[in-house]
Amino acid sequence: MTAATTNPSPFKADLLSDTLTRPSDAMRAAMARAEVGDDVFGEDPTLRALEERVADLLGHEAALFTPSGSMANQLGVRLHVRQGEELIGDSLAHVVRAELGAAAVLSGISSRTWVSERGRFRADDAAALMITGAGPYQVCTALVIVENTHNFGGGTVQSLDEIRRARTVTRERGVAMHLDGARLFNAHVASGVSVGDYGREFDTVSVCLSKGLGAPVGSVLAGSADAMAESRIWRKRFGGGMRQAGILAAAGLFALEHNVERLADDHARARRAAEAMAEVAPGSVDLATVETNIVIVDVAAAGWTSAAFVEAALAAGVRTYAVGPGAVRLVWHLDVDDAGTDVAIDVLTALLRSAPTA
Ligand SMILES: Cc1ncc(COP(=O)(O)O)c(C=O)c1O
Repeated sequence: MTAATTNPSPFKADLLSDTLTRPSDAMRAAMARAEVGDDVFGEDPTLRALEERVADLLGHEAALFTPSGSMANQLGVRLHVRQGEELIGDSLAHVVRAELGAAAVLSGISSRTWVSERGRFRADDAAALMITGAGPYQVCTALVIVENTHNFGGGTVQSLDEIRRARTVTRERGVAMHLDGARLFNAHVASGVSVGDYGREFDTVSVCLSKGLGAPVGSVLAGSADAMAESRIWRKRFGGGMRQAGILAAAGLFALEHNVERLADDHARARRAAEAMAEVAPGSVDLATVETNIVIVDVAAAGWTSAAFVEAALAAGVRTYAVGPGAVRLVWHLDVDDAGTDVAIDVLTALLRSAPTA
């Protein structure tokens, strides 16, 4: 798949996020051809086809299309956690830190977190924090969230063995597990583990079509048929019932068909850039942490603040994102090709070589 020619990126290399891909011309053509109906009445054939395809891929009975990954996650939370109960996850998890308190606002629940190393999931962390059977004395844990790959952790791929160990513990203790799989296809491509093998370990799974897969809008929640029937009601209540959404589903189906295996290209480009930066500025990138399409650069190690670095890179046409006072995140996706990667490497290595004058 080639990038859209209708509205190309204004940047030489836009590494801000993999959410900003523009649908390719071929994807737009597929959207234009989509057969549609009113999905609130369950009559959109393209949407049905997408939901069936994703349920099948993820090893679940049914699936539900949502406008965003946040809504898919929050529907999962709503399903598993009753008012006054809690979810637990790592302190960098998107559900905990980047969904604007939705779990508290929409479901009336609390969240507790453990500290992880770059978002790496360990069953023992979850088991140690979980509280079950506490009667009227303490908040009960109803849900464990796992994020794979882990966004703010830097694209970290989770271990299936750790997930399985957690599954054994949560089963024994009656706690549900939800997978925030916004980038589950990146995890699959990097690890070789099928998305179904990851997905089957969870009660519910969300995947995003609008990140590395390149669709303009949409995520999918998967789970049991009963859970999805209930989530369909809650999706409407949350304001996410959509009408002729088959146009969006067509983009999702196109993405699943054409844009999964090519994620390996994003991973390879991220690694190539990481290696170049590590070479010119030792300590700026820990190559062992570059697992998928995300690279976290320790610009402080090269004498920069992240704000100054982001600004200087932008002035040279490369957009990046500050994730801490001294750390900058770079994300590869299908609108950054080899030539864009070359530009990014030139710009970013030149900056890392020369810390700003005071
Ligand atoms: C790990 C993760 N989960 C969920 C989401 C939410 O997706 P959306 O922006 O579609 O709500 C994101 C978005 O970046 C994400 O990185």
